[in-house]
Amino acid sequence: MGELALPPAGEEQAGEDRIVYDLDGVRDRFEALRREVPGIDVRFAMKACPLDEVLAHLIRLGSGIDAASTPELKHALSVGAQLGRTHYGNTVKSDRDIATAYQLGIRDFATDSLEDVAALIRHAPGARVYCRLATTGEGALWGLQNKFGCSPDDALRILTAAKAGGLVPSGLSVHVGSQQINPDAWHAAFEQFDRVMAALAARDIILDHVNLGGGLPAFDYLDRHGNPLRPPIDKIFLVLREGIAALRRTHGEHLGIIVEPGRYLVADHGTIHTRVVRMTARHLPDGTRQRWLYLGVGKFNGLYEMDMLQYRLVFPSHPEEQMVPAVVAGPTCDSDDAYSSTHGLVQVPSALASGDPVRIVSCGAYAVSYMTEGFNGFPPLPHTCTGGAW
Ligand SMILES: Cc1ncc(COP(=O)(O)O)c(C=O)c1O
Repeated sequence: MGELALPPAGEEQAGEDRIVYDLDGVRDRFEALRREVPGIDVRFAMKACPLDEVLAHLIRLGSGIDAASTPELKHALSVGAQLGRTHYGNTVKSDRDIATAYQLGIRDFATDSLEDVAALIRHAPGARVYCRLATTGEGALWGLQNKFGCSPDDALRILTAAKAGGLVPSGLSVHVGSQQINPDAWHAAFEQFDRVMAALAARDIILDHVNLGGGLPAFDYLDRHGNPLRPPIDKIFLVLREGIAALRRTHGEHLGIIVEPGRYLVADHGTIHTRVVRMTARHLPDGTRQRWLYLGVGKFNGLYEMDMLQYRLVFPSHPEEQMVPAVVAGPTCDSDDAYSSTHGLVQVPSALASGDPVRIVSCGAYAVSYMTEGFNGFPPLPHTCTGGAW
């Protein structure tokens, strides 16, 4: 029997899938944020994209780092993060985590419980501690309200206990929820800061900063109709400028403002290059036919958020073709590995064939950090960077 030749796989072969980061785009976002909201200390939430190139690039541009575990702290310091502008932003940490961070030289810690403060008093003597307030998470793609943050009354108790134990009560923080598109979410945060800071001042506790957390949105995800989302970023920046100015008028012009963007900096500047695995037409129980487009990359190897978001797909080999609706899914043998049906069907070229190239746009946030080690035999997606000094 003659040997079967491998079928042509198109421009992008299996195994050549990758995510490409545009470092110049990341720089533009970083600079836009500092221009639009002057006088803030930007600390990249590294969990959104912990690649050496991206971290080193942002650090060189002047970013600090929000790290949320001891491996993240070590990683950040190894690529040049300044100790004084790197904080431990996770309220959940063990005694050992705290002691390790302290040994590394970290002196700024988030907290939201008396138990965590007691551990900080013991394992990070004299450190600065800021208290995270709970938010509703309304308006965000991912609310973070359940796991993190305390009530204003608890914040008073926690920072009072911190001071009594020899820590420096340094600030308050919030996270209004990731991919927050409602400017009012930040309004509410400023009001909370104001009230809690006034109550703390009455107890002789004067804070030196507030931390607005993450939540700034990416621009280029699609809405349920397949149109670009285009969140009201100018309005959000306006609310930030006004809120910061009001807070400084009341609580002192020297009040520091930290912002911890993750998604906003990297989401729109990461593009996945992959290929069509197969396009099929399946008969549904009601007799209708539904097309499915299976791609080489899905939930477990780069698109963890694919069941919550819709990304723009580009088909370079089929620029002009008739489009048909399809469900988009990843390559694994797992039914979670698909766009959520709540997003409806995606318009795709009708004649896609196995091996045709596909680009998935604006998927740079929480892509590399959420990949599995090789679920179902699909290895983590490799990355490359363009632009910057690399
Ligand atoms: C403490 C903290 N700060 C910042 C961020 C970054 O959030 P985003 O990517 O929405 O900007 C996160 C994300 O979970 C977080 O937990």
